[in-house]
Amino acid sequence: MLRRALLAAADNDRLRHLATTAPVARGVAHRFVAGETLDEALEVVATHGRAGKAVTLDHLGEAVDDPAASREAVDTYVTSLDAIGAQGLDASVSVKASQFGLATDPDAARSLIGEIATAAKAAGTHVTIDMEDSSLTSATVDLVLALRADGHDHVGCAVQAYLHRTPDDVRRLMEAGASLRLCKGAYDEPPAVAHQRREAIRDAYVEVAGIMLDAVRAGGGLPRFATHDHMLLHRVRGEVARRGLDTDAYEVQTLYGVRPDWETELVRRGLAVRVYVPFGTRWYPYLVRRLAERPANLQFFLRALLTGGRPT
Ligand code: FDA
Repeated sequence: MLRRALLAAADNDRLRHLATTAPVARGVAHRFVAGETLDEALEVVATHGRAGKAVTLDHLGEAVDDPAASREAVDTYVTSLDAIGAQGLDASVSVKASQFGLATDPDAARSLIGEIATAAKAAGTHVTIDMEDSSLTSATVDLVLALRADGHDHVGCAVQAYLHRTPDDVRRLMEAGASLRLCKGAYDEPPAVAHQRREAIRDAYVEVAGIMLDAVRAGGGLPRFATHDHMLLHRVRGEVARRGLDTDAYEVQTLYGVRPDWETELVRRGLAVRVYVPFGTRWYPYLVRRLAERPANLQFFLRALLTGGRPT
């Protein structure tokens, strides 16, 4: 119930305006967002690199229907990738296709993300297209397949374990050789479309992880398991071991600011860890999804509001 209300708040323009102009909310956002500028984000990438963690950089923005804003986002990504290449940073990029008008003009989105993919190849890295709400799932899967058909063989996407359709999407995408990030799914979806119960989502996650791991031997791209759920990762690691695969056969991904101690522990255990690092001024919907995921995050936000200061 609370989660549903919070996710609805992610799309509310009035709340967005209130939050992005309130210093306290900006302070909370700072826990989950590297900063508003590329320089701040690159500093975070470098710090993570020194700690043995790779990064995927996300220039925040979604549901954009202004071509000038989409153009600006492409330019920021290309500048980011030039810096990643020039500084030899261990970083890829993540993009939301709705930032490039996927919902209204899929061909334009393909062309704009193609420009980012070209810059990523020059920087020696890859692009992951985030998976957004279910109104965009088919278009996103088609976009990834189209970009790969255009020769961008270092483009993959996220897939959401909670969606009933995901096993079929994963088979199609892995057949095309795409590297996929598996996550639980962060949006409010109806029962006809998505599993609702925590345990059902976990079981679905393990099932999809198995499909991804089976495809590794058949030439499918590197599986990237995105979660902060240590019990779930334990089950996934059981699937890895059952197939006789090594720890370098997959990557673990986390969100910046959620469980940094756990990231350190995973690196210490020899796992490949990549942290999703968002930056930019359009952080409001991203922050609301993080608050919706975990009551403790919401408490942290409310405490900051009540004390009126920057949270610890
Ligand atoms: P969840 O939030 O359910 O947490 C599970 C357990 O982890 C908790 O019960 C607790 O035990 C532990 N835990 C979590 N946070 C903790 C903390 N701060 N301290 C201690 N323990 C903690 N979604 C989407 O729809 N599209 C996308 O493209 C992406 N992309 C993406 C990339 C990456 C790298 C990540 C990690 C996640 C996404 N997501 C996403 C978000 C994803 O779908 C999901 O909403 C969140 O990851 C939350 O689910 P978890 O699996 O992390 O478990």
